[in-house]
Amino acid sequence: MTTTSFYDGLLGTVYANAIADQRFVEDDVFTQLVVGADGPALELGSGTGRLMLRLLAAGHDVEGLEISDEMTDVCVTEAGRLGLRPVVHRGSFAPLDASLRGYAVIFCPLNAFSFIVDDALAMTAVRSYAAALKPGGVLALAGSAGEDALRDGTGWIRRPDVPVAEATLAQVEERRTPDADGRCLRIERVIRIVGPDGTVRRTQHGTQLRRLRPIAALAEMFADAGLDTLHAHGTDADYILTGRKG
Ligand SMILES: C[S@@+](CC[C@H](N)C(=O)[O-])C[C@H]1O[C@@H](n2cnc3c(N)ncnc32)[C@H](O)[C@@H]1O
Repeated sequence: MTTTSFYDGLLGTVYANAIADQRFVEDDVFTQLVVGADGPALELGSGTGRLMLRLLAAGHDVEGLEISDEMTDVCVTEAGRLGLRPVVHRGSFAPLDASLRGYAVIFCPLNAFSFIVDDALAMTAVRSYAAALKPGGVLALAGSAGEDALRDGTGWIRRPDVPVAEATLAQVEERRTPDADGRCLRIERVIRIVGPDGTVRRTQHGTQLRRLRPIAALAEMFADAGLDTLHAHGTDADYILTGRKG
């Protein structure tokens, strides 16, 4: 299986450590949707289970779908520690396998839908989500059209260090560069694992491409897939778009 290069190997380990305890404002929107759902929910790109395990622990009916074996292994290990038994489907959300059906809510946090940079494939994917919803079900995708600051390029920035083992840190540098036509954002990451004596033990580079989509572009896809009652939380820079299957 292919991933988007930040979620396996060394980069994946560092990502998993960096994200484990984080909470995001958008978590509340997805949580409210799952709490109010009339049936099971499916998280697309459930990763380490950061959000899904909280929802499961609170007694909600939520399954995950994840492409990275490393992320799923972290999720299953953490679930075991918490006494939870999550259902995590292994596979891709681009598009969703037709065997997955009958969900009351399908949601995709942290702009992961933007990994589908090809618009025709993205449209096929949105249709597959609509098909997997039961009547009245809600699709909720996080998205972003990018921020103005990015348009000028930001150069390399140092992100907070991430502890990865006893006395061992990952130093993370990142550069975000928009394409000339503003369609996509290229995110490059360099990770250096630094031991207790300060020497660099390992280095890994990764690059991700994310499609920048304004709300209106995603809304057009939702409408084409037959979803209605569209609602955007947030602004073009950072939003969640919801739509209902009639
Ligand atoms: C930004 S992380 C978000 C993880 C989790 N949803 C959260 O909120 O903490 C994106 C996740 O999507 C997964 N992913 C990326 N492309 C995917 C695809 N085509 N199908 C399934 N999962 C995918 C990655 O492996 C990663 O775990």
